[in-house]
Amino acid sequence: MADLPSGFWAGWILVVTLVSLAAVAWLVWSIYFGRDQQEESEIEPVWDETLAEGHNPPPLWWFWLLFGGMVFSLIYLILFPGLGSNTGLLNWSQGKRVADSYDNFEASFADVRATVVDMDLLQIQGDLALMATAERIYQRECAVCHGPEARGQASLFPNLQDTEWQWGGSPEQIEQTLRGGRRANMIAWQSILDTEVIDNVAGYVMTMHEGGDETHPGKAMYEQNCAACHGVDGAGNEMLGASRLSDDVWLYGGDYDTIRETLLYGRTGQMPAFDERLDDFQIKLLVAWLAR
Ligand code: HEC
Ligand code: HEC
Repeated sequence: MADLPSGFWAGWILVVTLVSLAAVAWLVWSIYFGRDQQEESEIEPVWDETLAEGHNPPPLWWFWLLFGGMVFSLIYLILFPGLGSNTGLLNWSQGKRVADSYDNFEASFADVRATVVDMDLLQIQGDLALMATAERIYQRECAVCHGPEARGQASLFPNLQDTEWQWGGSPEQIEQTLRGGRRANMIAWQSILDTEVIDNVAGYVMTMHEGGDETHPGKAMYEQNCAACHGVDGAGNEMLGASRLSDDVWLYGGDYDTIRETLLYGRTGQMPAFDERLDDFQIKLLVAWLAR
């Protein structure tokens, strides 16, 4: 009521409310106590021997019911908003109530959130309700890129359900990935190496998940140009996000053409930072969910 558009309408409501209450009070009073004097003086007509125009006063409990109702209305109007812009003694308002319940929600939930942040990962992982919450956060924040089942998609967004981690799969590394984001930087080799060399290296890379072909013509050039980041044996480097080439798990693709493309044009995958967007509770849940 406090936010009525103008004082006029507040006053209007006040007058209408009070006048109606007074009218009801007057009506009740007149029914029960106003007739008494008249009744005595009136002669009740009798239509035939038995049929008389009776006048039965309404039962008294009606009176108490109506009286109680009016007293209730008055108390209500004193305590709560109702008389125009009057806010009532309790200063109650719908908006305030919503705000209060929000505060309560925050207060009661803040504890849970704080405990979860300090909880052991294993404990969180064992809690089905928390894991379900984590998955909901994943679906809202991450599924657009990493796919609804976190199995990666479009040969651009890595699978998060396997055991292969470009940037490391320990809880600390995953947390770092989420908070700070990651920028992979695999340079384009087309201006550095001859196409023929690139073809050879690509061919060699294809043999690496089987241990690497010792006699391959691309091997020497691999060791010279690529081993610094990917390792001589292709183990990769989690600090740089350099992919492991000694397994058969590929982000962009492990066929000859795709590897060639990767070498020619380079790859610069970017994982956005979520430090600002998610709070400690949400990040902790996601780390627990991903590090299973
Ligand atoms: C400066 C470090 C660095 C060097 C040098 C480097 N790479 Fe990479 N490479 C990376 C990074 C980082 C990625 C991941 C790119 C991404 O995720 O977007 C990558 C990705 C790749 C991929 C894609 C793997 C996949 O899963 O699809 C291939 C293949 C690859 N590199 C091969 C090579 C070869 C061959 C050379 C040598 C000619 C080379 N790289 C040199 C850092 C490097
Ligand atoms: C805008 C798209 C996008 C969104 C949204 C996104 N990611 Fe990523 N994420 C990527 C890309 C691209 C990479 C690969 C970066 C690279 O090439 O190294 C990545 C990499 C990762 C990695 C590292 C994988 C590895 O092998 O080390 C993790 C973990 C990860 N994301 C988790 C998440 C989580 C959790 C969320 C939601 C909070 C999320 N991502 C949201 C695009 C996204």
